[in-house]
Amino acid sequence: MALASSSLISFKPCLSAPFQKPRRSIVVANSAEPSSKSASQSTASASASAPASTKWSLNSWRTKKALQLPEYPDQSSVDQVLHTLETFPPIVFAGEARSLEEKLAQAAMGNAFLLQGGDCAESFKEFNANNIRDTFRVILQMGVVLMFGGQMPVIKVGRMAGQFAKPRSDPFEEKNGVKLPSYRGDNVNGDAFDAASRIPDPQRMIRAYTQSVATLNLLRAFATGGYAAMQRINQWNLDFMERSEQGDRYRELAHRVDEALGFMSAAGLTSEHPIMTTTEFWTSHECLLLPYEQALTREDSTTGLHYDCSAHMLWVGERTRQLDGAHVEFLRGVANPLGIKVSDKMDPNELVKLIDILNPKNKPGRITVIVRMGAENMRVKLPHLIRAVRGAGQIVTWVSDPMHGNTIKAPSGLKTRSFDAIRAELRAFFDVHDQEGSYPGGVHLEMTGQNVTECVGGSRTITYDDLSSRYHTHCDPRLNASQSLELAFNIAERLRKKRMQSLTSL
Ligand code: PEP
Ligand code: CO
Repeated sequence: MALASSSLISFKPCLSAPFQKPRRSIVVANSAEPSSKSASQSTASASASAPASTKWSLNSWRTKKALQLPEYPDQSSVDQVLHTLETFPPIVFAGEARSLEEKLAQAAMGNAFLLQGGDCAESFKEFNANNIRDTFRVILQMGVVLMFGGQMPVIKVGRMAGQFAKPRSDPFEEKNGVKLPSYRGDNVNGDAFDAASRIPDPQRMIRAYTQSVATLNLLRAFATGGYAAMQRINQWNLDFMERSEQGDRYRELAHRVDEALGFMSAAGLTSEHPIMTTTEFWTSHECLLLPYEQALTREDSTTGLHYDCSAHMLWVGERTRQLDGAHVEFLRGVANPLGIKVSDKMDPNELVKLIDILNPKNKPGRITVIVRMGAENMRVKLPHLIRAVRGAGQIVTWVSDPMHGNTIKAPSGLKTRSFDAIRAELRAFFDVHDQEGSYPGGVHLEMTGQNVTECVGGSRTITYDDLSSRYHTHCDPRLNASQSLELAFNIAERLRKKRMQSLTSL
């Protein structure tokens, strides 16, 4: 939402008449991976032919096998909810998504850096202004540090205002001999461990829509109403530096950022100047709950293209990115910038095929490949992915998600991630791109502005024993504010080093 810049002025709202097309029932397969059993249960074909060869429509995903979708007990109440959502206004506008795509194209060429972050899963319970403000503030602070380190624009995208639906590795959860369907995100069912909470409730989609709208409303206000003022952003909470090995280096970097801001102010960019008081901020989430995503898809009156107006950017998850699956079919027809999550299981040829299906015209900025495979796998597998994509002449933005390949179980049974492992994966990501001569285009983090204790490590060390004291996540463990900022300083140093190297090699 480029609220102070020309990109907002140029858009045409993609409002159009609600879609009245009949809905066909969905082919659901509730397993994490495709299995012959679920395939045989499906009534429609999960065609192996390239989806791009057939005509796309808002409904065409319904003929493909859809993994990870809930089975609602009553289809007529689902239809009612979807009809209501179809009549609601779009949450974002097509012109904003286009402007984000242009920025991401810059990141693909090494001229900008993507910072994408937020909750693993937003929740109805944790919905309040302080949470939104604190996460927004940390993202802004990280953005300033990265911008200074890289001396290039930082594209700030929240996993916010719509990140509700969760894919699950196991469709069931078992506790003390009781087996219940898994929690699938607050827009589907409840996370309390009782049978009633786990029944998918379509009304939750309406609540998710309204929470997304309210969250985005506040973010838009923060982004333009002076909250994003540079003077406020550098009121860092840098206490992690006190106990950091790199404390002195970070302090020096923070001091230089302060000096740069002082210089800008002296040069006339004072707090009254819009550049100093506003920022651009976009939203994103996993495109998982397809009926909801379809209901919020609108035809843009300017271009005639379809945009999924539930968020500016959408990504397809590691568990639902099958070439002939419903999620890929839906996404190939919407014009938003798209992310593809990629683990070590991805074969280079498959990645090339997937990119070709989603971006046949090879538009820069359209595809962001979000790699999440752990440091060791990264060093072995990423070079092959980069070479295959480059060999096919495809332009993508390479981004590291150092979270999802590093989830471990603490002795207490809580899911956690180690700060060191996260840092090691990022280091591997940068090393591989240096080696391959490609561009590290950004990071994708699960993080919060709250002082939670979900990931172990960091300079203000969180131990396994500390985890239970403030473990609030509804799904995966997030970096807290201090760990997020520490990581940003780390990445900024790396970006700075890269810049210095390219200067000396001129
Ligand atoms: C996520 O981003 O929360 C997620 C489930 O990621 P992935 O699809 O990469 O596992
Ligand atoms: Co997650």
